[in-house]
Amino acid sequence: MNLEQAKEIMGDEFYRDANFLNSIIDQLNLPKDSKILDVGTGRGHMAIILALQGYNVITGEPEGTFWADWESSAKKVNVDHMITFIPLNAEKLPFESSNFNAVFLYATFHHIGNKTGALVELMRVLKNNGVLVIIEFTDDGVELLRKRWKGHPDAVDPRDYSKDLNLKLKVIESEYLNAYLFKKQQ
Ligand SMILES: C[S@@+](CC[C@H](N)C(=O)[O-])C[C@H]1O[C@@H](n2cnc3c(N)ncnc32)[C@H](O)[C@@H]1O
Repeated sequence: MNLEQAKEIMGDEFYRDANFLNSIIDQLNLPKDSKILDVGTGRGHMAIILALQGYNVITGEPEGTFWADWESSAKKVNVDHMITFIPLNAEKLPFESSNFNAVFLYATFHHIGNKTGALVELMRVLKNNGVLVIIEFTDDGVELLRKRWKGHPDAVDPRDYSKDLNLKLKVIESEYLNAYLFKKQQ
């Protein structure tokens, strides 16, 4: 199934951000056998778009959290077999160091308590030359969300939490979402 077909099936929340998420994955040009982690499963949108592009994905959120029925959504677009769920916390990940080619967080970073600690941990599990992709709402994006969820938290800029970590960063901006790409180089 292609992204346009999935957008028709998945509904408006998916529809809104799908093209931006897809374009970020395109720009990374990762080999299809890359080891990929998606932190903060939520509705499963990030994992589903990665899987629609042909990547196998490990995804997870803290044990006991049930944000949404991501698995039913993945089944609707026939990619559930490409997504493996493991309970995890970004602040202390259950993986060895230097494990993943890419780690994605979409609309997750602003939920994390110890953001600088999580950045250190997320970089730890990346292989050398791997990339950490943090996708967060802009101020305009948050304003749009607040039309539906009044109490949505403010936008967060990961640069405010990475100043002392000396990481190489590229930012890709759009109206409602920004992507912060941190490259691991030892
Ligand atoms: C808005 S949802 C993310 C949307 C999701 N990435 C998607 O593609 O649909 C926020 C997610 O962050 C997760 N989360 C909150 N704190 C976390 C933490 N410390 N580590 C990992 N995930 C966390 C929540 O459980 C929830 O799944």
